[in-house]
Amino acid sequence: MPKKILIAILGVAAIVFAAYTLTPQYNSVQAPVIPINQPKTKVKQVELVLPNASPITARVEDYNQPTSLWAVVSKEHPLPDAHFVPAGLAVPPVRTRIDKSIAEQSLRSDIEPDVIALFGAAEAAGHSVMVASGYRSYEQQQIYFTSYSRQYGEEAANKFSARPGQSEHQTGLAFDVSLTSRECYLEICFSEREAGKWFAAHSYEYGFILRYPEDKTAITQYQYEPWHFRYVGRDLAKALHDSKLTLDEACPYLQAALTEMKARGAAN
Ligand code: DAL
Ligand code: ZN
Repeated sequence: MPKKILIAILGVAAIVFAAYTLTPQYNSVQAPVIPINQPKTKVKQVELVLPNASPITARVEDYNQPTSLWAVVSKEHPLPDAHFVPAGLAVPPVRTRIDKSIAEQSLRSDIEPDVIALFGAAEAAGHSVMVASGYRSYEQQQIYFTSYSRQYGEEAANKFSARPGQSEHQTGLAFDVSLTSRECYLEICFSEREAGKWFAAHSYEYGFILRYPEDKTAITQYQYEPWHFRYVGRDLAKALHDSKLTLDEACPYLQAALTEMKARGAAN
């Protein structure tokens, strides 16, 4: 082999060797630098403290939204869209008043596990009960309210029947419970029946609240309704039960939690 060619081959070999040994044998992409104060996940939970109740750490719901499990719907807080219709309505697999329309036998399907748990526990405790009235559309509520107004006058009717666009039944989260025998049907005497007492005492364990208590009529602006229950989720139901506050009275606390969550979200 000519000397020049040998030198050229050795030169190329030296360059290849140098290039190989100087190239790092690992992934050279650098890990991103994360400032130590930056939270890794967005805060979605805050602490909600109601008086005389253990603090709950919950995913905060916006009580102004009709889709929220914490939605506040009342005379002072009507649905933002009077014709709101919730998604996912379905007849729950519990006893329902089958002579009512399919719509009125329905509730939001995402709360179905707790509806089943509640009615299962009531049956196990010996009570034969049914959903007497669940979801009511704007139009359905209007039919009821107009009928009661004709019968009793508008002001008297509005003490036990919500105007359309102001009823919790329109959220798909509320129902009226009745004995299957229909004794004391939507009457105050339901509270004296064993089933009425059981629902008042135990519904919170499954995420429901007695929405219109006897001693809070001035706050709720509705008469005592021992048959009307509203789903808010198990954590809030227990906190409301322990604090003895109505959903209306809890509003400032829900607002504080919402404000805190928004402030933390904005800081992210
Ligand atoms: N009875 C309750 C207030 C309603 O009509 O929604
Ligand atoms: Zn009701």
